[in-house]
Amino acid sequence: METMRWKDEGFLELLDQTRLPGKVCYVACRDYRDVAKAIKNMQVRGAPAIGAAAAYGMALGALNIEAGSKEDFISKIEGIGRELVSTRPTAVNLQWAVERVIREISTVKFDEAASYKKMVLETAHAIYREDIAGNRSIGMHGQELVPAEARVLTHCNAGSLATAGYGTALGVVRAAYEAGKKVSVYADETRPLLQGARLTAWEMVQENIPVTLITDSMAGYLMAKGMVDLVIVGADRIAANGDVANKIGTYSLAVLAGEHGIPFYVAAPFSTVDLNLVTGADIPIEERNHSEVTSLAGSAIAPDGVNVWNPAFDVTPNHLITAIITDRGVLRPPYQVSLRQ
Ligand code: MRU
Repeated sequence: METMRWKDEGFLELLDQTRLPGKVCYVACRDYRDVAKAIKNMQVRGAPAIGAAAAYGMALGALNIEAGSKEDFISKIEGIGRELVSTRPTAVNLQWAVERVIREISTVKFDEAASYKKMVLETAHAIYREDIAGNRSIGMHGQELVPAEARVLTHCNAGSLATAGYGTALGVVRAAYEAGKKVSVYADETRPLLQGARLTAWEMVQENIPVTLITDSMAGYLMAKGMVDLVIVGADRIAANGDVANKIGTYSLAVLAGEHGIPFYVAAPFSTVDLNLVTGADIPIEERNHSEVTSLAGSAIAPDGVNVWNPAFDVTPNHLITAIITDRGVLRPPYQVSLRQ
C-alpha cells in the first residue's frame, strides 16, 4: 500500500490514514496548503512520511511561483516551507526536507523559474526514493539484532505508513521475517489516536506477520510474564546526545524494558537526527487538541469541562536506549560520540 504517490498530472495523492483500517482511500493535494492541512490533520503522519510529503508540498508550491530572479524564487519558496514546517513541530524530518529542497536550488544559478520548479520536484522524488532505500538499510542492519525466534513489542506506527515505504521499526521486523526468522509482534494500541491498533496491526495483518494487539497499560505485565524479547520503536527527533522523542508512551516502555532487562531499540533514518539540539530537553513537543483524549470514535468518554493534558510525544533519555538502528549502521552509546561519527 503506497503512503503517497505523485501523479504525472501534477498533484500528490496521500493515503488517508485517518480512515484506516476501515477504508482505504486517497486524498488529492493540488496545492501546498492541501499538503499542510493533511499533515496537520494527520491524514499523513509519521516523521519520515511527513518529511517526504512536505517535499512534495514544496514541489506543488513551486509550480505556482512567479519569480524573475533567484532571490525572488527562494524568498517565495522559503515562505511556503515555513508554512509546511509550522504544521507539526516535533518531527525534524519536516524541517530537514524543506531545508534540503531550498539548499539544492540555492546552489544552482537561476536561469528561469521553470528549471527551479523541475529541480524542486526532482528533489522531492529523491527524498521519497532515498527514504525507502534507507529503511531497507535500517531493516538490514536491525534484523541482525533480532534472534531467530523473537517477540517484538512496538509502539505507535513506525511502519510503511509512517514512511515513504517499508518502515523503520517495522522495517526491522519485515527484514527479520524476510530473513526467515520466526518473528511476532505485540502492538501497543497507542492512545489517544490508536496508531498501533489502526495502523501497525493493519500493516502486519496485511502481510501475515503474526501480531497481537494490547492496550498500552498491558505492556508491563506482558514483560513481567517473559513474553517480550525486544522492544523496537521509531523516532521523531534524536538529539545530539541520543535522547529520543517519539510517540507519547515510548518513555514508559523504555523504563519498563530497563526494569525487565529487555533490549530497547530505536530505529530511525539519519534525517531524524538533529545534531543542533544538545539534549532531548530542547526538542519541541507538540500538544494536541483535548478532544483526542475526551472522545473516542466521536463519542464522549469524559465529562465536559474536565482538564486535559495531551502531549503527542515524550522524550526517552539516552541511557535507556540499548542501540539506535540507522540507515548507516547500528549506533551504540555513548551516542554523543557515535551520532557525530
Ligand atoms: O503522531 P504520529 O502518528 O505522527 O507519531 C508517529 C510516531 O511517533 C512514530 O513512531 C515516528 O514518527 C517514527 S515513524 C517511522
